[in-house]
Amino acid sequence: MAVVISETDQETRPREVAPAAPSGQDERAARFIDVRGLQKTFEGDGAPVHALRGLDLVAPEGSFLGVMGQSGSGKSTFLAMLGGLSHPTGGSIAVDGIDLYALPGERLADFRREYLGFVFQSFNLVPYLTALENVTLPLAVKKMPSADKRSRALEVLERVGLADRAGHLPGKLSGGEQERVAIARALVNEPPLILADEPTGALDSETTVEIMDLFAALHREGNTIVMVTHNPEIQPFFDRTIVLRDGRLDCELPACPVDTPV
Ligand SMILES: Nc1ncnc2c1ncn2[C@@H]1O[C@H](COP(=O)(O)OP(=O)(O)O)[C@@H](O)[C@H]1O
Ligand SMILES: [Mg+2]
Repeated sequence: MAVVISETDQETRPREVAPAAPSGQDERAARFIDVRGLQKTFEGDGAPVHALRGLDLVAPEGSFLGVMGQSGSGKSTFLAMLGGLSHPTGGSIAVDGIDLYALPGERLADFRREYLGFVFQSFNLVPYLTALENVTLPLAVKKMPSADKRSRALEVLERVGLADRAGHLPGKLSGGEQERVAIARALVNEPPLILADEPTGALDSETTVEIMDLFAALHREGNTIVMVTHNPEIQPFFDRTIVLRDGRLDCELPACPVDTPV
């Protein structure tokens, strides 16, 4: 998928975050996510915890990548690192040719704002703001007239099938509807990469399928999505599924041995 950059984005995109020369376009799209020897060790009072022990992964732009594995296998740690939220203790991650942890701190913040949409299991909606206001939040820093922000947010709410709930507070919405608001909020900036950590973990199976249909549509439209899940039922939605074990890439479904813990 070619990333459509609006004029506003081009004005605000800092040069340090801008991708490399266009000549490397194909190579960059093929290695849109480029993870090399990724390690994360948490040092605390007790013994150090090796959450990631050398993860390698390359995925092209437009992938819908599932990340599975038992609790504690390093899935959330990996997603946080892909999202520029947690520095590795070894190895590197590049997204769209940008070596994330080689960026100075404020440029990493710019990367998060311009490249990423996050969706979490707990939704993380602001309870005293309406659905529309929650979706508008990520546009706060954009140089854009308020009326345009509002119509952009409404457009995305419509996209997730919630236009008629725009004025509702999260507490007045069902779990599936709150999840849709969270997805709309993640999409409002048209991020090149969508990261989701167990986004269906709190939903019943019928609502899970509805939400996965929505993610599948986003994937068909060319979005790159990385989703962590425990739920084997949603695995068929992914075009590739990696399984982590003890901080390493254990195998890829469907080629994993049948008794592989996910
Ligand atoms: N901030 C942290 N401090 C210390 N240990 C952590 C921290 N975050 C995660 N861990 C540990 O790292 C390992 C991997 O955790 P995590 O990535 O959350 O696994 P998963 O998402 O697969 O359940 C676990 O042993 C967990 O306890
Ligand atoms: Mg987790």
